[in-house]
Amino acid sequence: MSRIAYVNGQYVPHRTASVHIEDRGYQFADGVYEVVTIFNNRMIDEEGHLDRLWRSLDELKMDAPMKREPLKMVMREVIRRNGIENGIIYLQVTRGVAPRDHPFPKHAAPALVMTAKRLSMEKSQKTAEAGVNVITVPDIRWTRRDIKSVSLLPNVLAKQEAKEKGAYEAFQIDEDGMVTEGSSTNAWIVTQEGKVVTRPTSNSILAGITRGSLLRELEKHNIDLELRSFSKEELISAREVFLTSSTTYVMPVVKVDDKIIGNGHPGIVSQQLRAIYEKFMQEI
Ligand code: PDD
Repeated sequence: MSRIAYVNGQYVPHRTASVHIEDRGYQFADGVYEVVTIFNNRMIDEEGHLDRLWRSLDELKMDAPMKREPLKMVMREVIRRNGIENGIIYLQVTRGVAPRDHPFPKHAAPALVMTAKRLSMEKSQKTAEAGVNVITVPDIRWTRRDIKSVSLLPNVLAKQEAKEKGAYEAFQIDEDGMVTEGSSTNAWIVTQEGKVVTRPTSNSILAGITRGSLLRELEKHNIDLELRSFSKEELISAREVFLTSSTTYVMPVVKVDDKIIGNGHPGIVSQQLRAIYEKFMQEI
């Protein structure tokens, strides 16, 4: 089945899908996006992702390209036309096409594009069984990381550095030596006392949708949680480390920089939380 993209009202072959060179997303990174998991033909946390999309749009004073219900219909159609059982749908809204000038254009209509991609559940499971390596890098991003903006250059640089060092992800460290989040994931630890810790939401991190759902599952399962920042030292000396996102679900981390975490294998709590999250996805 050949891939289909959605571009401003049309379903087009993915290989020829394009936008104008004066799209403000291209020139100013003046846009926002969402990545939604598709699991067993269904979207996971669709409403949460759309709530966050609308919040990002509001924060940037950007109009929505269409109302929520028609948008959901387009998302379903993109998934259907691409025949995706397990994977992701990518959705991007920019302020539209206008002659290059920094202030908001008066007449441009917001531009909407979507793509969908298959992801291998087997590959994800294998990666989770082995666990992944993470490096730490300084957080050099702007102070509105709560907005899911397409302006991702620091994230790209961080992920590239991770790749060059044979790691899966880079956890970013703020000016106070505290972990903010990964370049495309949220960061978690399990302390030596067995407490699950993740940073509270603020302008410093993205309010991950996977993070939010996992927090609700922790509560349901009466698992001890501390919502607080943690330092790089605490990260390195944690009993367990893991990360979350729409593309990785719950992913155990077995090495941070040069330090092996635990016994170098995915920790018990991380494995338990991955299983809990998978069950949550299955039951949606
Ligand atoms: N990234 N933090 C950052 C900086 C992210 O870019 C993401 C998501 C997350 C996790 O959020 P969620 O659980 O809602 O996926 C945290 C997506 C997957 C991406 O950029 O591809």
